[in-house]
Amino acid sequence: MEIKVAIGKITEIKAGAIVVNFFEEMSHPEGDLATVDKALGGAISELINQGEIKGKLHEITVIHSLGKLPAARVVIAGLGKPLELTADKVREVVAELCRLLQQKDIGSIATIAQGAGIAGISVEAATQAVTEGALLGTYSFRKYITKEAEYGEIKQFTIVDADETRLPGLKQGYNLGKTLAEATNQARDMVNEPANHMTPSRMAETAERLAESYGLELNILEREQMQELGMGALLGVAQGSLEPPKLIILHYKGSDSAEVDMALVGKGITFDSGGISIKPSEKMEEMKGDMAGGAAVMAAISAIAQLKPKINVVAVIPATENLPSGSAQKPGDIVATMNGKTIEIINTDAEGRLVLADALSYANKLGAKHMVDVATLTGAIVVALGDIYTGAFSNNQELMDRVIAAGAESGELIWQMPMHDGYKEQIKSEVADVKNVGGRSAGSITAAQLLVEFTGDTPWVHLDIGGTSTSEKERGYLVKGATGVPVRTLVNLVLSLAK
Ligand code: BES
Ligand code: MN
Ligand code: ZN
Repeated sequence: MEIKVAIGKITEIKAGAIVVNFFEEMSHPEGDLATVDKALGGAISELINQGEIKGKLHEITVIHSLGKLPAARVVIAGLGKPLELTADKVREVVAELCRLLQQKDIGSIATIAQGAGIAGISVEAATQAVTEGALLGTYSFRKYITKEAEYGEIKQFTIVDADETRLPGLKQGYNLGKTLAEATNQARDMVNEPANHMTPSRMAETAERLAESYGLELNILEREQMQELGMGALLGVAQGSLEPPKLIILHYKGSDSAEVDMALVGKGITFDSGGISIKPSEKMEEMKGDMAGGAAVMAAISAIAQLKPKINVVAVIPATENLPSGSAQKPGDIVATMNGKTIEIINTDAEGRLVLADALSYANKLGAKHMVDVATLTGAIVVALGDIYTGAFSNNQELMDRVIAAGAESGELIWQMPMHDGYKEQIKSEVADVKNVGGRSAGSITAAQLLVEFTGDTPWVHLDIGGTSTSEKERGYLVKGATGVPVRTLVNLVLSLAK
């Protein structure tokens, strides 16, 4: 899909469809909709009077113009109550109508910057939301389907505004929206890839490609270097697999200082079978997505490199498989981590916290001033929050509040979960400093409680995306499969820290 912004009157545009809108509680067409209504001889007023067009959020009406307008069709998007409109609702509605029009094989669409000027939504924010909605909502992963798709892609998507003075705002919103959506789709692509293709080595190659494209510095640590650094926890998880583990480090340098302002750490388990504590076969295939945190931080730092904030960011991705074999780690094993602490392995399926223990220690050693880790860490977070909210844990309320705000701005919902020394009791070991599971209760909290052993005093937030990294169905701008959560949150967070 090619997206453009342009100055012009929507009613004068030649396209497969033009998109205007209608709000709940409006009695008759106004503005562009009134112009369209007039050209169509009052057809829209008629539909409003009959109650077919109500302006309800998500309502989509398609009318054929039969030669009375340059565009073949008019789409009226319901945006709900004007005072309740948000950029995220615009993102959803645009995604839904793009999918509908795509299924009708309509190759070119023009729209106004839906929602601009309503409920405090700026032209920039509206254009950004429209751009993201179009790109995220029409995402598909068809790479391995040899049969041709039943319909084509939307080729042209133009966002128009009649007011010339708004062009800079349109361009700015479009640029940000395009960068964020493309990064999100990049993360989705990586997560949707099956584990026979997206191995740790392939993750490293993807990092290489991104580094090359966006001018990031790249460092890849091999098994030997991990051994030198004493990363026993990461190596323990990797030892059952024939695929070599990779510790991927991407550097973005936006400021002259030598300091690392933010480290983004992402769990990169390219397949999680559970290891010797093997998972049941049902739905095990979903564990190809256990590198979603790693994919998100790689995509986020690529977007950051394009937006160029004046801040230094590092992404750290411990990438490995978690498989059972004759060389695999066993329950009862004790591993020594990079920061010197020892961990007793009770369950080899609690591997995410192990690879993160060494990755967080590494980020800490780089001198990161803030750290955010992203991980499909626990099934327990799915029980607690489902697939709507990402669970967040922190040792620093100020950073936590910033992360929540960045999430709200992106429409990626984040819910703070508690941390408390009282939970430490559950991960006490008799034979090592800590053990890697804390029993059945508070499973996502005890996992976070293990991570905080490796953050030092650095302000840190842990995002458990176990429930939100994939979606079981189409929903707004999410499609079935990988969601790309929380790429847009991470980028917004870094942009806000750079201000
Ligand atoms: N990757 C899983 C967590 C997960 C499961 C994410 C399902 C998304 C969907 C993680 O490595 C894991 O296996 N966690 C275990 C921990 C347990 C053994 C303490 C879990 O949550 O069951
Ligand atoms: Mn696991
Ligand atoms: Zn896992």
